Amino acid sequence: MPKEILPIVDKPTIQFIIEEAVAAGIEDILIVTGKGKRAIEDHFDSVPELENNLRDKNKLELLHLVEETTNINLHFIRQSKPKGLGDAILQAKGFVGNEPFIVMLGDDIVESKVPCAKQLMNQYEKTHSSIIGVQNVPHEETYRYGIIDPINEYSKGLYNVKGFVEKPNPEDAPSDLAILGRYLLTPQIFDFLETQEPGAGGEIQLTDAINSLNEVQRVFAYDFEGERFDVGDKFGFIKTTMQFALKHPEIKDDVAKLVDDLYQQIHKKDKKSK
Ligand code: G1P
Repeated sequence: MPKEILPIVDKPTIQFIIEEAVAAGIEDILIVTGKGKRAIEDHFDSVPELENNLRDKNKLELLHLVEETTNINLHFIRQSKPKGLGDAILQAKGFVGNEPFIVMLGDDIVESKVPCAKQLMNQYEKTHSSIIGVQNVPHEETYRYGIIDPINEYSKGLYNVKGFVEKPNPEDAPSDLAILGRYLLTPQIFDFLETQEPGAGGEIQLTDAINSLNEVQRVFAYDFEGERFDVGDKFGFIKTTMQFALKHPEIKDDVAKLVDDLYQQIHKKDKKSK
């Protein structure tokens, strides 16, 4: 089961991401899949039997959820070998053509007033340059992210960048500003992806290609507004699920009570063992 399809309460991660793109006004969406990811395509198929069934039973809210999924104009392409994020993005070259485009990673959900993709588009309108979405992360976690080396703040939240480093150890990290799964890139990035040598983890890294692009064409980093949820690792997935469950209109009170009960139980056990 691909992680992108695992539901956060009642909606798969991939759908949160597609909905962000749609809310940002993006009309052409390409999903780069790979081995074992077929369930993603199936999720967005139309399911007339289910829709009819929900209509017959007058379950209109659920029907609306299902229809939302199937009305989106999506395209798919497969990355034949898992050679890294940079290689996955290179698969989109033909689809993208000669226009700037947005990259949204499948394990990062962003909740914000203005969709994160739209925030990057707004910055592009001002600069006509590539814009990389960043936020501060705890210093000891820099090894999990692409980290920027900022020069100065060009305008509010928008940084000129000296370099981009993939997954540096905290002692080598040039800042705590991390790339968090949202990029607006000019199509010139493909020139660098085509010749990019493997980097961190032996993979073709998008961060390295962005670093090269920045040498010939200014690339900005933008500290976007909103909360980013990482569903790509076990604890991140549980944390995201809990936080979304605590906000879900149908179950939030029950979940809050459950958390409270669990806390009491753990606390009691702790007292006993002391
Ligand atoms: C990727 C990128 C990294 C970025 C991260 C955000 O890493 O390579 O630069 O900070 O996504 O989630 P991954 O998490 O795929 O290892």
